[in-house]
Amino acid sequence: MYPFDFYNPTHIVFGKDRLPEIDRLVPKDARVLILYGGGSAKRFGTIDAVKKALGDRFVMAFGGIEANPQFTTLMRAVALTRENDIDFLLAVGGGSVMDGTKFVALAHGYEGDEQGLLKHGLNPIPIEKALPLGTVVTLPATGSEMNMGGVISHGNGKYPVLCAATFPRFSILDPTLTYTLPAAQVANGVVDTFVHVMEQYLTFPAEGRFQDRTAEGILLTLTEVGYATLEDRADYDPRANLMWCATMALNGLIGAGVPQDWTSHMIGHEITALHGVDHGRTLAVILPAVMRVRREQKREKLLQYGRRVWGVTAKDENAAIDEAIARTEFFFESLGVPTRLSAYGIGEEAFDAIIAGLKEKGHTAMSERGDLTLEDSRNILKAAL
Ligand code: NZQ
Ligand code: ZN
Repeated sequence: MYPFDFYNPTHIVFGKDRLPEIDRLVPKDARVLILYGGGSAKRFGTIDAVKKALGDRFVMAFGGIEANPQFTTLMRAVALTRENDIDFLLAVGGGSVMDGTKFVALAHGYEGDEQGLLKHGLNPIPIEKALPLGTVVTLPATGSEMNMGGVISHGNGKYPVLCAATFPRFSILDPTLTYTLPAAQVANGVVDTFVHVMEQYLTFPAEGRFQDRTAEGILLTLTEVGYATLEDRADYDPRANLMWCATMALNGLIGAGVPQDWTSHMIGHEITALHGVDHGRTLAVILPAVMRVRREQKREKLLQYGRRVWGVTAKDENAAIDEAIARTEFFFESLGVPTRLSAYGIGEEAFDAIIAGLKEKGHTAMSERGDLTLEDSRNILKAAL
């Protein structure tokens, strides 16, 4: 196990009917900006409930944060916070709203060109001051509610923005607020959570036994509840389990002290930016292709994954790996999420632009060993056709 720091200050408030507790979680004298997306949170009454809980505090609202939040939209929210002396942000939505809110928190006091905040890649930005923020989660998927990351879209690119000052102070996780999600978004959330675990697990053995067993526990839970929570979208227990898995998959716990490989996410971001495919859907296409192309580099963990998560018993190692990959694809497909680029009409002619995007962002030596070249990324795309 490698040396690591584990720091996570987010207070999780989990369960049905917890929204009124916003009153004790937000400072009494706060000047609050509520941020939300394209309208679902307003339509289903969550914004009203949040405003009610905030009582007679000074409250403004900023709606219209799009899926894959845009820098230019967020800068309009930053202007509002500056003009109105806002000192607390409340995100009500999915990953896009939470990520966007983190960006607003960071940009609020930033002196200089805010586009500079997009240029740090996966390195945490050493800024210590940001507006404090809380979240009300309406879509279980990204883990943004308990981490310090966000992904911001600008022009033809998606840019990770990490900063310890943007951990939410609190996050309210009420599974019933997610019942209104369309099936496709729930399925995206199951896949996104699954792949977050895989990117911190499917590398090489590093004696991170707790991390491995916990990762496998999350994966197994997803295989148990994934289909159930799609079938009956208002069944509390499967949805509650999905929600907690999504949070725990990307709050730093399972990735501490072990190698990581974010290849599927980085290639997926390019596909979203260029072709508008939902984040989770890009991962269902790319992860199985990564497993195929990198089967030698990931051999031991692929075998462990197959055995412990899918109960693969094949004696022949190659057959066991083939089965582990096939079971993964079947799981995604059973949720209605395709595992091939062709499902989105994306063919080989699209690869040059995707590779150019990876190059522009410096993703030329990815993976747990830093040895995955642009040529390997192209082979992964070919394996996903
Ligand atoms: O905009 P509204 O009208 O609210 O509709 C949203 C949106 O269209 C809808 N929705 C959300 N909650 C709902 C609901 N509809 C009905 N009922 C509800 N309760 O769902 C649609 C998708 O929302 P979005 O927030 O975009 O989805 P998701 O949570 O999957 O977030 C995706 C974004 O998160 C980033 C992705 O790159 C992408 O930009 N990620 C953030 C990460 C992080 N911060 O750690 C890690 C992830 O890997 C990911 O990259
Ligand atoms: Zn993701």
